[in-house]
Amino acid sequence: DRQKFIRNFSIIAHIDHGKSTLADRILEMTSSVEKRKMKEQLLDSMDLERERGITIKLNAVQLTYKAKDNQEYILHLIDTPGHVDFTYEVSRSLAACEGAVLVVDAAQGIQAQTLANVYLALDNNLEIIPVLNKIDLPSAEPEKVRREIEEVIGIDASNAVKASGKSGLGVDEILERIIKDVKAPDGDENAPLQALIFDSFFDAYRGVVPTIRVINGSIKKGDMIEFMATKAKFEVVEVGVYTPTQKVVDVLGPGDVGYLTAAIKTLNEVRVGDTITHATKRAEKPLPGYRTLNPVVFCGLYPIDPDQYQDLKDALEKLKLNDASLIYEPETSQALGFGFRTGFLGLLHMDIIQERISREFNIELIATAPSVVYHVYMTNGEKILVDNPTFLPDIQKIDYINEPVVKATIMCPKDYVGSVMDICQKKRGIFIDMKYMDQTRVLLTYRLPLAEIVYDFFDKLKSSTKGYASFDYVLDGYMASDLRKMDILLNGEVVDALSVIVHKEFAYQRGKAIVEKLKTLIPRQMFEIPVQAALGGKIIARETIKAMRKDVLAKCYGGDISRKKKLLEKQKEGKKRMKTFGRVDIPQSAFMAILSNS
Ligand code: GTP
Repeated sequence: DRQKFIRNFSIIAHIDHGKSTLADRILEMTSSVEKRKMKEQLLDSMDLERERGITIKLNAVQLTYKAKDNQEYILHLIDTPGHVDFTYEVSRSLAACEGAVLVVDAAQGIQAQTLANVYLALDNNLEIIPVLNKIDLPSAEPEKVRREIEEVIGIDASNAVKASGKSGLGVDEILERIIKDVKAPDGDENAPLQALIFDSFFDAYRGVVPTIRVINGSIKKGDMIEFMATKAKFEVVEVGVYTPTQKVVDVLGPGDVGYLTAAIKTLNEVRVGDTITHATKRAEKPLPGYRTLNPVVFCGLYPIDPDQYQDLKDALEKLKLNDASLIYEPETSQALGFGFRTGFLGLLHMDIIQERISREFNIELIATAPSVVYHVYMTNGEKILVDNPTFLPDIQKIDYINEPVVKATIMCPKDYVGSVMDICQKKRGIFIDMKYMDQTRVLLTYRLPLAEIVYDFFDKLKSSTKGYASFDYVLDGYMASDLRKMDILLNGEVVDALSVIVHKEFAYQRGKAIVEKLKTLIPRQMFEIPVQAALGGKIIARETIKAMRKDVLAKCYGGDISRKKKLLEKQKEGKKRMKTFGRVDIPQSAFMAILSNS
């Protein structure tokens, strides 16, 4: 009967529309957190998240709320990440809810990112509660935004809640609406256990801690459980809920959201989207929608200080423990020494991992430009996978190369259709479909090489649509393309870590852009440095970095010692994120120069 009083919901919003602020207010109003304990934006617990203002890890907090009907309700607020790299995780965490609070900034209106998440919520049959937020702002136009929600998203917004996360206005109304409109979870307590894993983290003492939503059956301490996708079996040590700190409970039943511990040592055994059942009384089928996640973007990670190789290895190991989608293996580069080829779900995922390595583990890194995985068919009948341009075999030995392709859906206001199509065309896109979603909004479908998305697709799309386009993609097989390896030479020598795979038709243009960019990034030395791009041994572009005119120290020769020291200090600082190749210092930024697309 307790089940009747449970409500599971999440908050979806475009970045900066006030999701975290509203969540904080809700926590306060349900007195889940003592005020003095309350940090700003408690839900975004990792530092990195807070700094970047994005939510990476999912969280699930249990709240108790005494509603106007005098009844006490249990609410689970489930947090979702907002980025396309983590679409799968968003979709799984929404699958753990029955309702979603849709927060739209009443001064800004619907923005790109809101849409993808709203559609995921609709796909999961969630009840949507529209909220017009920040109505305290003088520039707020709630009526206009209300109409926009109805026209663009196509849901009834006639009773959208006007709220301000800042002042707290309307927050109680949101809670009442959750109670009234979001349905209580159904699910049969006596059926075999089915619990959805929608997040997990690693605890040094207790192992992997999955966050789960029980759909059917119940789970308690001592149960033997099985993870249906990985077949791993464990005995449950503890079950509990987040309040938001962990609180042990006796049992989790249908509709409950919480965690379990079972001395699970590796995260490989626990995958987001998998179903937990009992090892003896097994559920016939897992919950729908599980898929394995494969990394699609790879790059080389190298410690600037070669002595930190082992530290980097340890760091990757630790990070992998709570991020099963991260993969890595040792790699050697002539230019960079010993490092690791590392695979990610997408570009943001890559950024986050790199930043965590330098911040949490204090390792200065050089990262090479990201690459996709090419399927290379050799003339001798062999097929090899290449995720590092350096290892693309000689063109004479290659029959053909397949590259990964995505099916991209882009939503944008109709005024921008022309420029979006233009970008897709330039990115080797193949037009599939265009349809009007309503009078103002268009849905475009393209097939695009993943490699082109890895370059500057996002930025181009964003800037040419004023951020008004929303973009999502799924992998969609492979296609044969006329691809070549382009080498970059510094001072006459090939720098292996700068090689890149390019489409033949774009090679000249890309080569030119890269050497021009490198010219601006590589510091002058005492001698002249030619920077060249070569295709199959033939130079196709060249720039020259002029020699430095004077030694920095020459200026103060015989002069003030402390000033000299300062200069040397400064030089050292500048060298920090650099690798010396032959006689040339290459800064980290140079390795990203190959992403500059003219
Ligand atoms: P991300 O975590 O970056 O996705 O953003 P968010 O959606 O969680 O937004 P957040 O709560 O961090 O708020 C973004 C900014 O808007 C902050 O500067 C808040 O102080 C401000 N803000 C949030 N709610 C309100 C509101 O109701 N009124 C006004 N005036 N400002 C608000």
